[in-house]
Amino acid sequence: MMLDLIKTRKSVRKYSDKHISDEDLRKILEAGRLAPSWMNVQSWKFILVKSQENKDLLSELSAGQAHVKNADALIVCVADLGAWEEAKITHIQKPALNPALQGENGILIRTMEQVIYPISYMMLEAESLGISSCIIGAMGNEITGILPDVSKTAREKLNLNENQIISTIITLGYEAEHTETKKTRKDFDDVVFLERIGNKF
Ligand SMILES: Cc1cc2nc3c(=O)[nH]c(=O)nc-3n(C[C@H](O)[C@H](O)[C@H](O)COP(=O)(O)O)c2cc1C
Repeated sequence: MMLDLIKTRKSVRKYSDKHISDEDLRKILEAGRLAPSWMNVQSWKFILVKSQENKDLLSELSAGQAHVKNADALIVCVADLGAWEEAKITHIQKPALNPALQGENGILIRTMEQVIYPISYMMLEAESLGISSCIIGAMGNEITGILPDVSKTAREKLNLNENQIISTIITLGYEAEHTETKKTRKDFDDVVFLERIGNKF
């Protein structure tokens, strides 16, 4: 069942005028909230954006991508570096087991990594509700260093603190016209191995 959903999901960049209900938006956000994280730190925030003003700003932040401003709603996924504070003082004081003790770079990498799980959950929950999406990674932020002025404005508008980084935007909407899913992926045997790379499963 889940595999069927994964097989038919595709990135959609053209949306109809139909609005997504708040009930469905809540379900999508709830799927993200429930995602797993290392030491259960839940180092993320999700900002639901419905206003055209904020969509336009975020389209600018993502180098003018039209589907960002034309989507019915956006979820701005924020990596929250500040979420590790408690983890710094837990009983787990081995850096190997606790990313909070792995220094600034370790925390940055783990926080950017962690937010991918709720993003995947939200994308699949949307798909299960018949709502299409596209993940937007191309954007100005502290990692890419591009569009610093727009990034500053967006940070202020979204009320981010200095520990919070916009990692990804999820566009959401109903597909304007149905197109067949064309999955262009590497073959199973190119990416899956048994015991060692080179051995087929
Ligand atoms: C981390 C990440 C960043 C992406 N950034 C963008 C983006 O900025 N703009 C866009 O239109 N699609 C973006 N995509 C969507 C990919 O282009 C798309 O998932 C890929 O081509 C496979 O197509 P499919 O999703 O239809 O299977 C991104 C996907 C991922 C996982």
